[in-house]
Amino acid sequence: MDTPLKNDRLLRALRREPVDATPVWVMRQAGRYLPEYRATRAKAGSFMALAQNPELACEVTLQPLERFDLDAAILFSDILTIPDAMGLGLSFAQGEGPQFARPVRTRADVERLGVPDMETELRYVMDAVRVIRRELAGRVPLIGFSGSPWTLACYMVEGEGSRDFATAKAMCWNDPALAHTLLDTLARSVSAYLIAQAAAGAQALMVFDTWGGLLGPTAFREFSLRYLSQVVAALKANVHTRDVPVILFSKGANAHLVEMVDTGCAALGVDWTIDIGDARRAVHGKVALQGNLDPAVLRASPDVIRREVHRVLDSYGNNPGHVFNLGHGVTPEVDPEHVKVLVDEVHSFSRLLRAT
Ligand code: CP3
Repeated sequence: MDTPLKNDRLLRALRREPVDATPVWVMRQAGRYLPEYRATRAKAGSFMALAQNPELACEVTLQPLERFDLDAAILFSDILTIPDAMGLGLSFAQGEGPQFARPVRTRADVERLGVPDMETELRYVMDAVRVIRRELAGRVPLIGFSGSPWTLACYMVEGEGSRDFATAKAMCWNDPALAHTLLDTLARSVSAYLIAQAAAGAQALMVFDTWGGLLGPTAFREFSLRYLSQVVAALKANVHTRDVPVILFSKGANAHLVEMVDTGCAALGVDWTIDIGDARRAVHGKVALQGNLDPAVLRASPDVIRREVHRVLDSYGNNPGHVFNLGHGVTPEVDPEHVKVLVDEVHSFSRLLRAT
């Protein structure tokens, strides 16, 4: 567990310290675009069976690191493990999104929910973290993660994926007190989940607020940001997490970057709809930034990918605190060779930038 890190670029960049080259990892780096992932998933039988088997979860976590010179591993799991452990009955229909057998709609539904026990109901996640840390043997740091309270509430109330999560948003307007009870239970669960992952060995923590951008400015502050702040505050108050960098990623919420800095997080994820140089100036270098290449660029030719990598690196400039990533997850039809082009170009071009 205490093996010194051979590659600490990610942690240095998150602390805004100098690095020899910009660290890079890719959201959904372990996933369906890799044939070896599809093979392991077939062996496991289903996505949840894969996520619940610590040895197989470790195997797929390490697969992208065998192919690419990545600067971080991310735990193979899902944000929906918490609602599953709360008893909502999660399944992933083949080729479709997530579904809950028992969505949360009424006050009785919300009041039935409790914070899951991390070392029993979610033990498989903590076991996966422990196995991955052992197998990584200090090659790169391991990122643990959770969904944000708001994004988890979206799936739990809707019962499935959605374009607009109109049922979840309706709860916020029709019964805000009920929405707040649900979000508070989720914030306490997310905090306990991230603390348990850090205690098991996660070296950085990311919160995915994938659906924060569905909310208008006032609703974002009330239903998303407030609970992100609650989570970061809980992590700062705990011995296992007070020194672990936290990355907050609210997709589509670029208008709120400055307010998000006030949560006390180490870094903000940014999607591709903002120039990362503008984002850096907006936050006055007070946090690190992670992003922000449009994932669709990976469908273009290697020359275009290199040019777009240069654009993002040039825009951030020779400033501390950049973690290169996509602005959202890599999609299943991407050619793995294109991910290799991206990763290698981030390292070589960022070295060049530092030399000039
Ligand atoms: O990034 C990684 O490589 C780590 C693993 C990871 C997964 N999901 C594995 C997964 C992470 C970090 C997530 C986060 C996640 N899950 C988010 C937040 C990030 C984002 O993309 O916005 C969300 C919203 C989910 C919920 C979820 N899980 C959906 C909507 C789906 C189905 C659609 C899809 O993208 O495939 C999943 C399933 C899922 N989670 C898969 C993987 C690799 C695909 C399952 C399969 O093998 O068929």
